[in-house]
Amino acid sequence: MSVAEQRLEVDSEIDDADGFYYDDQLSSYTASVTKSVTNFPEENGRRYHAFCEGRYLIPNDERENNRLDHLHRMVLGNDLSPIQPSFVPPNVKFIVDDVEADWVYENSPFDFIHARSVELSIKNMPRLVSQAYRALKPGGWFECHGWDTRVQSFDGSTNGTSLDQFNQIVLDGFAKGGYYTRFEPDKMEQWYADAGFNKFHIRKYSIPLGTWPKDKGYVRILNFPVKESQKGANSEYAQKTLGASHLHQAEEGLEGMAMAVLTRLGQWKPEEVRIMVANVRMDFRNRRIHPVFNFYVCYGQRPE
Ligand SMILES: C[S@@+](CC[C@H](N)C(=O)[O-])C[C@H]1O[C@@H](n2cnc3c(N)ncnc32)[C@H](O)[C@@H]1O
Repeated sequence: MSVAEQRLEVDSEIDDADGFYYDDQLSSYTASVTKSVTNFPEENGRRYHAFCEGRYLIPNDERENNRLDHLHRMVLGNDLSPIQPSFVPPNVKFIVDDVEADWVYENSPFDFIHARSVELSIKNMPRLVSQAYRALKPGGWFECHGWDTRVQSFDGSTNGTSLDQFNQIVLDGFAKGGYYTRFEPDKMEQWYADAGFNKFHIRKYSIPLGTWPKDKGYVRILNFPVKESQKGANSEYAQKTLGASHLHQAEEGLEGMAMAVLTRLGQWKPEEVRIMVANVRMDFRNRRIHPVFNFYVCYGQRPE
């Protein structure tokens, strides 16, 4: 199945003298998005959403959320670590379990199974897809979100950079450890088919790292379509905000992602990992390097 390409254009206006991003420039994107979504208007004693104000006509306050909790099906979440929040709605339950162990749910109980960001975590992805299939009721859906963790750029600006080298070294390390390292659409489609799923759908989102995109035209933030009327300044703001947010989380994650795999499974010393991470940070802040990571959302149905 071919996946639609969304090419991002570089904003030439920010490609200025020294070519580096600074924290104050980046924080304006993340700070403004926070305020624009949390500044809730109140009306007739009820509270309403702030982002796209007026679009949804029903409140978002605690009273409404309590009502909605009664409508939802049971949601079961699974992780190796007990790191999930303890204050959760009554229909949500987290269990500590290895998702790669045999699933012991009886009578295929689930209507919907969702897995995301399992790259670099699990080892046997085809088996995970097949266990999800068997745990679904007939007609149930399995949705999987994931990153192609291999760095890309539309203009070749990441080629040969420290970021490029780091990315390859770390991914090779995980691959040697037997981990599933990157979402590849053709492989995923095959695994869904092998497990027995039909109605396979997939979408690709090219997520910039940094505020370099010019971003004129049609924009989506993940699965949320930006309305026609919000194009122009807002569309630019959307891709730049996405790129800033991606940069913040990636910077924060670099060392944690590399340290154990390179020191436990490879011959690296912690200081060597830290030096490499520092070099990658420099590339992250360099406006002339335009990294993109492809993110995929796919789903398929167990036949009725
Ligand atoms: C990159 S995080 C993704 C977290 C979560 N899916 C999300 O998107 O918010 C990977 C998570 O997978 C968990 N994990 C790794 N291997 C696992 C396994 N075999 N079984 C269950 N959880 C696992 C880790 O503990 C970690 O919390």
